[in-house]
Amino acid sequence: MSSQKKESWIWWKHGVIYHIYPRSFQDADGDGIGDIRGIIRRLGYLKELGIDGIWISPMYKSPMVDFGYDVSSYREIDPVFGTMDDFMELLGKAHDAGIRIILDMILNHTSNQHPWFIESSESLASPKRNWYIWKEGTMGTPPNNWKSAVGGSAWNLDEQTGQYYLHSFFKEQPDLNWRDPELHGVFFDEMKFWLDLGVDGFRLDVINLIAKDKKFRNNPVLLGIPALQQHVYTRNRKRSVTVVTKIRELLNSYENRVSIGEIYTHPPGDVKTAARYLAGGENGIHLAFDFSLIFSTWNAHAYYKSITAWYASLPEGGWPCNVLSNHDLLRSIDRFPWRTNREEKAKVAATLLLTMMGTPFIYYGEEIGMHNTHVSKKQIRDPLGKRYWPLFTGRDKARTPMQWNPEPNGGFTTGKPWLPLNRDFSSRNVKQQEGEPYSLLNHYRNLIKLRRSHEPLHRGSWLPVTNGQRGILAYFRKTGEERMLVILNFTGRQKTFSLPEHSYGKVVLSTHRSPGEFNYFQHMQIGAFEATICLVSE
Ligand code: NOJ
Repeated sequence: MSSQKKESWIWWKHGVIYHIYPRSFQDADGDGIGDIRGIIRRLGYLKELGIDGIWISPMYKSPMVDFGYDVSSYREIDPVFGTMDDFMELLGKAHDAGIRIILDMILNHTSNQHPWFIESSESLASPKRNWYIWKEGTMGTPPNNWKSAVGGSAWNLDEQTGQYYLHSFFKEQPDLNWRDPELHGVFFDEMKFWLDLGVDGFRLDVINLIAKDKKFRNNPVLLGIPALQQHVYTRNRKRSVTVVTKIRELLNSYENRVSIGEIYTHPPGDVKTAARYLAGGENGIHLAFDFSLIFSTWNAHAYYKSITAWYASLPEGGWPCNVLSNHDLLRSIDRFPWRTNREEKAKVAATLLLTMMGTPFIYYGEEIGMHNTHVSKKQIRDPLGKRYWPLFTGRDKARTPMQWNPEPNGGFTTGKPWLPLNRDFSSRNVKQQEGEPYSLLNHYRNLIKLRRSHEPLHRGSWLPVTNGQRGILAYFRKTGEERMLVILNFTGRQKTFSLPEHSYGKVVLSTHRSPGEFNYFQHMQIGAFEATICLVSE
């Protein structure tokens, strides 16, 4: 039975978001790099998957030092991805299909090729000098000890003007100065440009880095080792939250738009810090990526602890979001330990992702269990991989082309793919999994469908039944009169699971049981890596 009064469907809260790394999703023009027309071609697939929105990693004009996270014009589409007309067609067709479009917005830095930075660098008296963070060095050394996230000093000397500029990432990505009111206004105009075109929201890149200490104090270091820097004066400063509240005001002046902040904390999963950006639930970002699920070890109790910590940190009115993988980290299926039963574990993880309280994000290819791909030294494209090989081979391994079918290049391109495909593409691809009723892809599809059709799964409260200590994580999702029970066995052993009281219900989706039958249950034998969802009556 569903509750009498139907609450409205809020797409970013109740729906599912799919993350596309555009270079690798679908190439339509044969240059080996994914593009907008490729995404248009695959809208049918996304509709069928059942998602509500897509977050697309940056497609603005860029020299591509960091593959789009170095923007040289926020109002132009990079030709490698297509044209503005292509983008408008995508937006229109996606909306017609009931799919929202979220763009990546990079506020912390631009490319050093952005006309703003070029002008800012021209002289000390440049009218745009203060749009970036410039500072005198001290006796031939950088202004302070701040380190960039990619290693080395965060300061680069500009020979022409004799000052250093700050770059939290590569030197080709100079940091903007969010203390400058003029820059603030100009940047907001860039966001308005896309909102006016009808874009549904933004994923805010490293939003917790945008404000730095006004006094430029040195960051503390641990054990005297410069690399062990604690980013006290360069991350999570109060002003970042202030800027976020202004972004919320801007979005509130439009209808139905969303902001999702990337809050990468040290240690990962510092949920209290992530929750600060929700600014009381109504005034900050709508959703905060906090990475705790990504960094949780494969253990029911560890997941329980990160989930409860995250939920407990949320302010009144705040809403969680959940994510297993993204373009910067290893693919989830390969993070599960021991390299055994990975497919089964992926189904348990997917069931968790899609039945937890909060908005789920799916990284392209996760739904078919795409693996990390070996990329040889010669094939490395990620600047991080180039810099740190062989110690760190970079992020390319989780960014390889989508595996659509067993045809050459997995149906991704007719040209030479910009990164190699995983060698397993002829056996692991969308086409093959569409045809198998128990494939991971069909498990994702079924979960998404179920989540949509049952209120408890997309808006209900979360009531844990176990704390995962015996290998089983079980919880109720509940609204009004409807209750769903989710049982997840994280272990490779059969387990006994007991409910506190007899319940009457039926299985609606399971990796091990046939759905449909009504039954009384209290004690159940749960199979190895079983994921089961039941509809339970009071
Ligand atoms: C976070 C993005 O996810 C990553 O890909 C990028 O390199 C950095 N921000 C810098 O923009």
